[in-house]
Amino acid sequence: KSFLYKLWKGDVSSKMLNPRLQKAMKDYLSTNKHGVRFKGKRNSKLTGDQLFCELKERVNVKTIDGKEAPFSTLGWEKHVPQIPLGKLFTHGFGSCAVVMSAGAILNSSLGDEIDSHDAVLRFNSAPTRGYEKDVGNKTTMRIINSQILTNPNHHFVDSSLYKDVILVAWDPAPYSANLNVWYKKPDYNLFTPYVQHRRKNPTQPFYILHPKFIWQLWDIIQENTKEKIQPNPPSSGFIGILIMMSMCDEVHVYEYIPSVRQTDLCHYHELYYDAACTLGAYHPLLYEKLLVQRMNKGLQDDLYRKGKVLNNFDKRASL
Ligand code: C5P
Repeated sequence: KSFLYKLWKGDVSSKMLNPRLQKAMKDYLSTNKHGVRFKGKRNSKLTGDQLFCELKERVNVKTIDGKEAPFSTLGWEKHVPQIPLGKLFTHGFGSCAVVMSAGAILNSSLGDEIDSHDAVLRFNSAPTRGYEKDVGNKTTMRIINSQILTNPNHHFVDSSLYKDVILVAWDPAPYSANLNVWYKKPDYNLFTPYVQHRRKNPTQPFYILHPKFIWQLWDIIQENTKEKIQPNPPSSGFIGILIMMSMCDEVHVYEYIPSVRQTDLCHYHELYYDAACTLGAYHPLLYEKLLVQRMNKGLQDDLYRKGKVLNNFDKRASL
């Protein structure tokens, strides 16, 4: 059976990836750039419902609040928004869409369905203009990595992509989550542009994720995977799914688990082909996808045709 079919069934391993991706994964394992020292157990065999409950219980969406060093000494309590991310929407959302940037969403005609959700999450520089039919045009929140803030090509300061939405930024920190070490040596220095943006746009909700949150997600992926996963942070996509799980009753994720439209086209908005975008090289993306597949409560047909998985709370799971 094909790789895609096996992925839909949750029955794949990294051994089925092409040799180039396998080599990249191995190299990341031996480099261990972020100093990951996993102390837990691997391969706990939780069911989808148990996994969902575990995530709901353990995962705490934490952002930099300016109360810890070095941020406290640098006066960051004044820089961060007064209202924490978790309190922005007191009653949360009913149904939410997480729109992945995969090329496979092209020609999906999912735009109207996506816009019908109460909140829509998008990633990095993924546009809506010109792609409305397939990806919709509503954006409630955008998750951006530190390269978006620092690479002039993205025009973070001027681009309309980053206006009138909630912004959540992140940067790979050491596994120790030592904020002093991270502040001195971030992957890309997001701190300066963050403070500048906050000064210029004080009413726009804009947060930086706490490294503890990112690595907590990594631990959970590793605990629930038999193989050794890449010792690098999860992808923005997985981070986004977990943030929405904390704010929404239902999370509808589009083109994370690929549909029948699966393609090596990395992003729907860019002419660049690389299977690593869908299956992972740096990020433990394949393993993230296997967990999300395990928790899927949606119809199989929606998975094949829309590339959609549904994560919601099933009361039976708590019995
Ligand atoms: O590439 P970028 O990180 O901006 O894309 C947003 C997210 O969409 C990724 O972090 C990944 O989780 C998901 N994605 C995917 N397959 C692709 C491209 C992106 O699953 N081909």
